[in-house]
Amino acid sequence: MKVVFLAPGYPPEMQQYTRGLAEVGATVYGVGDAPVASLPPSLKQHLSDYLQVPSLMDEAGVVDRVHAWMRGREVDRVLANWEILVLTAARLRERFGLPGMSYDAVQGFRDKQLMKERVAAAGLRVPLSARVRTMTDARDAAARLGYPLVLKPIAGAGSADTYEVGSDRELEAALGKMLHVGEASLEEFIEGEEFTYDTVCIGGKPAFVNVAQYLPKPLIARTNEWISPVIVTVRDLAQPALAAGLALGGHVLDALGMGDGFTHMEWFRKPSGEVVFGEIGCRPGGACLVDQMNYTCDIDLFREWARVVCWGRFEAPTRRKYNAAIIFKRAIGQGRITRIVGLSEFMRRYGEHVVESKLLPVGSKRRNWKHTLISDGHILLRHPDFATACELANIVATQITMYAE
Ligand SMILES: Nc1ncnc2c1ncn2[C@@H]1O[C@H](COP(=O)(O)OP(=O)(O)OP(=O)(O)O)[C@@H](O)[C@H]1O
Ligand SMILES: [Mg+2]
Repeated sequence: MKVVFLAPGYPPEMQQYTRGLAEVGATVYGVGDAPVASLPPSLKQHLSDYLQVPSLMDEAGVVDRVHAWMRGREVDRVLANWEILVLTAARLRERFGLPGMSYDAVQGFRDKQLMKERVAAAGLRVPLSARVRTMTDARDAAARLGYPLVLKPIAGAGSADTYEVGSDRELEAALGKMLHVGEASLEEFIEGEEFTYDTVCIGGKPAFVNVAQYLPKPLIARTNEWISPVIVTVRDLAQPALAAGLALGGHVLDALGMGDGFTHMEWFRKPSGEVVFGEIGCRPGGACLVDQMNYTCDIDLFREWARVVCWGRFEAPTRRKYNAAIIFKRAIGQGRITRIVGLSEFMRRYGEHVVESKLLPVGSKRRNWKHTLISDGHILLRHPDFATACELANIVATQITMYAE
């Protein structure tokens, strides 16, 4: 089993997938933009060979270089778990004539408008929306759709350039901030709670399923610095309140022609109980979500993903034991972390439920909370009871404070 894996070193969790591939017996050929000398030994030991490319963003360039590099060698799979490379991996599969999802299928997971069109064509509920390229497009679409609306890039990530707009005036203001975005989607604003639906699929059918809840909704968490965003996996997937969302997720996978591997979907539950599709990627959720799923079941999805994509088997137990909550902290003030208040008290009282405590230590420079959800570090905890897990997460969110200056 010979695997070309794009970006084995970055984002950091890609190193875990590389390890997983090696552990299930694959020979791994890594392709990245970092010099080979800069790769950590813990990663290098799992790579059989490595190609440095000038830019991973240059799809055609990567395809040509990898094709030339592999000449005379066998390849069985070309894989990527980073959103911005899933299409490049599909191009390479087509070039090599390999099995796996086609470019067209992957586009359904990457282009937000096409995705909604395909999901809607299967009779599933999506926000009403329009693709807009110009100011005039946007004004016309807004008149047709009616407020409140969300304006966001077609190929967005991390809630960047995403705005809720409630009036013509707000639309003009948001458009003014989006001039650098080529194509946007203007869509019906869905009021309600927001969840994920994550899977590891074999032939489009989930071998593993997860649901997590965002507290609060990402758009709110991503626009208010004082909030400590919480994401909590839901242990009990059999509860009636999740049935419609789980069903929606399964239908979406069918509608988009999912193949093997991870998916990460977001969906809304309106106060009426109606569920609405948000978006989906054919890659794992970022920001430690895979770690959270691992802590939920005490398994290693990095390795199970590898087993699925290489050998078509998922062998880990899927019994869910915990609700795993991650809390991202953002320091008050700029510059370097000077003190952390409330942490030792929390650990003394509730430390038995904490599985990771990775707040930036005193002295380190703050991260840019707009650029990375992980902000100034996180605490990951778990509990078999959902309400208790949320309560503990809320204590971390409100009673542990980091200061910077
Ligand atoms: N139609 C909508 N109605 C209500 N809220 C929305 C809608 N579309 C997006 N949002 C909010 O904006 C957030 C970001 O939108 P979306 O998930 O589509 O973009 P993204 O940038 O790919 O997000 P991320 O990478 O953070 O998952 C959503 O998580 C949700 O909170
Ligand atoms: Mg999203």
